[in-house]
Amino acid sequence: MRLHFTTARGDEVEAEGEPGETLLRAGQRAGMALEGTCEGQMACSTCHVIIAPEWFERLPPASDEEEDMLDLAAGVRRTSRLSCQIVLGEEHDGLALTIPADSYDMRAR
Ligand code: FES
Repeated sequence: MRLHFTTARGDEVEAEGEPGETLLRAGQRAGMALEGTCEGQMACSTCHVIIAPEWFERLPPASDEEEDMLDLAAGVRRTSRLSCQIVLGEEHDGLALTIPADSYDMRAR
């Protein structure tokens, strides 16, 4: 499925997502600045993304653990999610999201 990323700098990036992989993986493959330090264990918030409002409502709701971790993330918005918790399927074709401005990628330093 197609994914539409907007980087923190405002660049638009189209990427392909594979069914069954996480949004975090697809974003990393597309070169997005998503560190994903804990690799989906919900022990960090470096995979934080902001989902487009029209898509936010269509995703399964965040678990309490995810909400707790999001509380610690910088720059959280109403449609924030942890990308490691979103497993992609064909129903996500066209999913649009933004990488928060204050996310950073240690690998790029
Ligand atoms: Fe750590 Fe998502 S990768 S919470």
